[in-house]
Amino acid sequence: MQKLNDSSLFKQQCLIDGQWLGKPSGHTVYNPYDSSVLGQVPNLDSADIERAIASAQIAFESWRGCLAAERSKMLQRWHQLILENSNDLARIITLEQGKPLKEAQGEVAYAASFVAWYAEQATRINGEIVPSHLPNSKILIEKQPVGVVAAITPWNFPAAMMTRKCAPAIAAGCSVIVKPSPDTPFTALALAELAQRAGFPKGLLQVVCGDAASIGQQLCISEQVTKLSFTGSTHVGKLLMVQSANTVKRLSLELGGNAPFIVFDDADIEQALDGLMIAKFRNSGQTCVAANRIFVQSGIYHRFAAALVARVEALKIGNGLDSLDIAPLIHLEAAIKVKQQVEDALQKGGELLSGSIPSGETNLLTPMVLINANDEWLCSQQETFGPMVPLYRFDTEQEVIERANATESGLAAYAYSQDIGRCLRLANRLEAGMVGLNQGLLSSASAPFGGVKQSGLGREGAEQGVEEYLETKYVLLGGNVL
Ligand code: SIN
Repeated sequence: MQKLNDSSLFKQQCLIDGQWLGKPSGHTVYNPYDSSVLGQVPNLDSADIERAIASAQIAFESWRGCLAAERSKMLQRWHQLILENSNDLARIITLEQGKPLKEAQGEVAYAASFVAWYAEQATRINGEIVPSHLPNSKILIEKQPVGVVAAITPWNFPAAMMTRKCAPAIAAGCSVIVKPSPDTPFTALALAELAQRAGFPKGLLQVVCGDAASIGQQLCISEQVTKLSFTGSTHVGKLLMVQSANTVKRLSLELGGNAPFIVFDDADIEQALDGLMIAKFRNSGQTCVAANRIFVQSGIYHRFAAALVARVEALKIGNGLDSLDIAPLIHLEAAIKVKQQVEDALQKGGELLSGSIPSGETNLLTPMVLINANDEWLCSQQETFGPMVPLYRFDTEQEVIERANATESGLAAYAYSQDIGRCLRLANRLEAGMVGLNQGLLSSASAPFGGVKQSGLGREGAEQGVEEYLETKYVLLGGNVL
């Protein structure tokens, strides 16, 4: 891991029970830009995972009893250390995930914002007292931490998705075992090192690496793990749900999306293009909330397409460590999926206005803009997760709402119009957990992030995000208490 200011942030071991363990020989991690070896992490066995679960259980028992103010202070210290080490963290993210360095810096700030937000929220987790149905008694509604949490995090935002789960869990009084993506473990391990430096007690936050399927299953079937929070594909999410059924585990699932991005004739075109460039090209198209299907009303279809091509052709492409806009996708398979979707579109009447399908094997894709998109294209039903922009034409509001909703996913949707009545109708009728109206960047620690339909369960961020780590307990208190 070249050129870190603090090389001790680069950990090739796992954090279990407050100790760095395991031989860094189980799994090799590569730089998506040039496939160079970045390092190795251990391949933990089931006994190691059991040890982590046992340690998390002990940590939970004492952490739940800490003052809310102590939990808040711990998170504040972690937040401060994340900010102090943001350049190193961003560099690690770019090296293992590939994204442009300026975006990696943005991700570190985004990751830190969850820790700051939940450091404050830790002191505001309140219950209620409500009138009783019986004389001389009160109904107390208490909030209690759910217990030991397993957090399975994805490769596309290795820092932010970890803090979006860990910070609210820790604020609530839970302990967390993080299982990062095998493609991007070093960011999680660096964040865990900073948590250690912040004074986290042993077992409160642990990071385990190894075979994703078997660790996932072990965490799901464990009776001591009471909650699973997962961000990743819908396919894996469903598998984890099945594996968690036996223990009736609490689940938060942030799964795939297929976001419609709708531009009406009366939209401010420049504003819509600004939004689309973010919603489509952030992380080179590898976000669950990425604009997947771009619906443009007939009256501006060609004008919008031409203006989009001009913007897309100005994007700089290359190594994430250089100052640019589009970096390689995480691996070759990701690029192959995008190529297949483009080939399918071309066979079904699509026309490439910008970009081309790369001839050789590469994960560095030029952004591709396609016109004449129709609902039979593969990308109409599948998440693209790459820099492909299919432009669909529509005529009426009713038609576009129906087409936008014709998917199993329901994470994000975007709409651009200067008619506020239309915007509010769309907000109401689009089947998505999040709707951006004349805005292309939804993500914020203060907002509840999550989907409907097969895009998942639960919310992350905001007050709703901490509720995911709390149980509600009803206590009926009698004995002449009035
Ligand atoms: C995701 O792609 O899963 C998260 C994106 C975000 O938080 O903005």
